[in-house]
Amino acid sequence: MNTESTVGPVLVVDFGAQYAQLIARRVREAHVFSEIIGHNLTAAEIAAKNPAGIIFSGGPASVHVDGAPSIDQGVYELGVPILGICYGAQLLARDLGGEVSRTDRGEYGRTELTVVADDVLFSGAQPRTQSVWMSHFDTITVPPVGATVTASTPETPAAAYEDVKNRRYGVQFHPEVVHTPHGQELLEHFLYDGCGLAPSWTMSSIIDTQVELIRAQVGTGRAICGLSGGVDSAVAAALVHKAIGSQLTCVFVDTGLMRLGEGEQVVETFQRHQGIELIHVRAGDRFFERLAGITDPEEKRKAIGELFIRVFEDAKGGLEDAKFLVQGTLYPDVIESGTKDAAKIKSHHNVGGLPDDMDFELVEPLRALFKDEVRKVGTELGLPDEIVWRQPFPGPGLGVRIIGEVTPDKVEMLQKADAIVREEVKAAGLEREIWQAFAVLPDIRSVGVMGDERTYGFPAIIRAVTSEDAMTADWARLPYDLLERMSSRIINEVPGINRVAYDITSKPPGTIEWE
Ligand code: XMP
Repeated sequence: MNTESTVGPVLVVDFGAQYAQLIARRVREAHVFSEIIGHNLTAAEIAAKNPAGIIFSGGPASVHVDGAPSIDQGVYELGVPILGICYGAQLLARDLGGEVSRTDRGEYGRTELTVVADDVLFSGAQPRTQSVWMSHFDTITVPPVGATVTASTPETPAAAYEDVKNRRYGVQFHPEVVHTPHGQELLEHFLYDGCGLAPSWTMSSIIDTQVELIRAQVGTGRAICGLSGGVDSAVAAALVHKAIGSQLTCVFVDTGLMRLGEGEQVVETFQRHQGIELIHVRAGDRFFERLAGITDPEEKRKAIGELFIRVFEDAKGGLEDAKFLVQGTLYPDVIESGTKDAAKIKSHHNVGGLPDDMDFELVEPLRALFKDEVRKVGTELGLPDEIVWRQPFPGPGLGVRIIGEVTPDKVEMLQKADAIVREEVKAAGLEREIWQAFAVLPDIRSVGVMGDERTYGFPAIIRAVTSEDAMTADWARLPYDLLERMSSRIINEVPGINRVAYDITSKPPGTIEWE
């Protein structure tokens, strides 16, 4: 993935902190490629990755407890620059002849830091006193042998230390969080000055590298890509198309369960704009027929998944020579199965759930990227904002947002209500802050009155959540006037709906979708 083959990534060693991904992203924001690894890798495994620098993340543990996560001591012999953050800084101190003491009080939150030397981390125009974010109990009292203290706080005499000769650095605070205003500068000093790296990892370098890799992998072969309308498969397809042009054919199965106007938009963007060869299968009728009478959520999911595969296989019938399948797998999916301490296991839903027995070689050009980076690549490749900033959407589509039997009438009602929710979120300028905002159609009806008429209609439930990764989520505190606009528009514009409710459940205990 790196642009210069001689320079390896900066490795972020995950000691079980929630911050490892954030650190990796901050490094990438400095235009240096980073990768997250588990702390159980051996020094030889680490050396094999040819790292340009290593960052030890924070962690929830104390270096003094039994079984506290540690690192193969051979890593210190590799001659690679190391920056320890929080727990990582304590580990480095403990391993290299310093001292970490238990104090009777920790330091949490915003803390004033006094810089006493500007060797590497604090060089440049950084202020001598600055605010930093602390979250620790143990304290480094003596820095590693050879290091000098370069900053302190009232509670932590060695809040930062540097051993410029051996290129080892430690900070007790968290430079990666926004509450440390000069944190990014500090990380950049470590990367550019401490590791001697150049900021060369840019969106255009990522695209160029991937284009070369895809060409090398696919050669003169034929590839297919299932488009879901979502951002990941869209960007993967656009990238592969840039690399191999007409050797790529996309298959877009329109299940009839897409959002309003989504099918046309996919065709418009990919076929007309990007000039990608696209097989558009309008399969709505088949899906409705299959779903008739099914009310059980699992049975519904299964029916949609199975039919999707059948339709996809029919569509690719004319492409028997295709050996490659393009998938929009992202880095978080890769790390979740890769680092040993990853606490969260995601049940990975694939695009429409393609079958395991399909005999393809996978092309996954986004495997090293986070979602926000994928979006930037998409923009750079000329994809429109409506695709690049599209919210996640489940493979089974509106099928999981209609409780009870799925019928064309209900889909139409839900599409209209859902479009209003999304339009209003966008008009309020909240589109990029909200993870997902959509409407759900439950299987109940209630009495209302409109004009002088008694109504007996369905309620629409608005679901809007904020989230980092969909593993946990909070209900979005949408302004009342926004909710009011959504409510009155839905009731006025969508026949059959006579009430609107707002879901105020976080995840857990709820899920994002209703099913
Ligand atoms: P839940 O409802 O489990 O959803 O909190 C978490 C995230 O996953 C999305 N989701 C799916 N995505 N296929 C997908 O590609 C699916 O079957 C599926 N089910 C849920 C959901 O929209 C949310 O972002």
